[in-house]
Amino acid sequence: MEGTLVLTNFKNYPQSTLLNAETLLSQFAGIKKPAGIRLVYSVSPIDLGLARMFRDLELFAQHVDHDDPGASTGKITMEGLIDLGVTGSLLNHSENRIGSYAIEQTVVKSKRLGFEAVLCVESAEEAEKYATLKPSYIAYEPPELIGGDVSVSTSKPEIVSDVVSICEKHDVPVLVGAGVKNRNDLVKSLELGARGILIASGIVKSGDPVTSLTSLISS
Ligand code: G3P
Repeated sequence: MEGTLVLTNFKNYPQSTLLNAETLLSQFAGIKKPAGIRLVYSVSPIDLGLARMFRDLELFAQHVDHDDPGASTGKITMEGLIDLGVTGSLLNHSENRIGSYAIEQTVVKSKRLGFEAVLCVESAEEAEKYATLKPSYIAYEPPELIGGDVSVSTSKPEIVSDVVSICEKHDVPVLVGAGVKNRNDLVKSLELGARGILIASGIVKSGDPVTSLTSLISS
């Protein structure tokens, strides 16, 4: 988990699902990563099988369940993901909130299986509540800024700093997301103590995802 994590969430945008997901991943595979940058792509559940095709890229799920393999219709098992080559997942994203029981069970299981859990929270209070579980990352995303043009680091710097100090006490690195668009937003987030960002529309809906991602990570 070294370096700055830039996690691109493909969501279920038409531009980044099915054939377009495959095309995007092929294009992203050609990006030259600067030292210290870690690129992860969080693909839609319908595209998780692409992990078999893109072994050289780090693919995450957008959600994972704590259910074991077997009679668990519709659930996404961690064991299944690991088998596919998917090494981590978002959890409790604002667009797919789960309860505290499921969060706790899933984080505990992720630690047991060595699977990375990026636990999303909407407030400093939630960060406080879940930091003791010690997920791989806590990702702070204020829901009202998601998909917009104002970055979390510009709009909520104090809350980002609060989340960072809460999580520091438990040795949990913080990511921030919502409205992130460019290098400036990334740099500001790092200055506030975050260890990386979550980004979706700023890449996927930019019209030129490769250039958007490349310029975000290049100094
Ligand atoms: O998971 C990242 C996402 O919720 C942020 O979305 O479009 O504001 O970058 P966006």
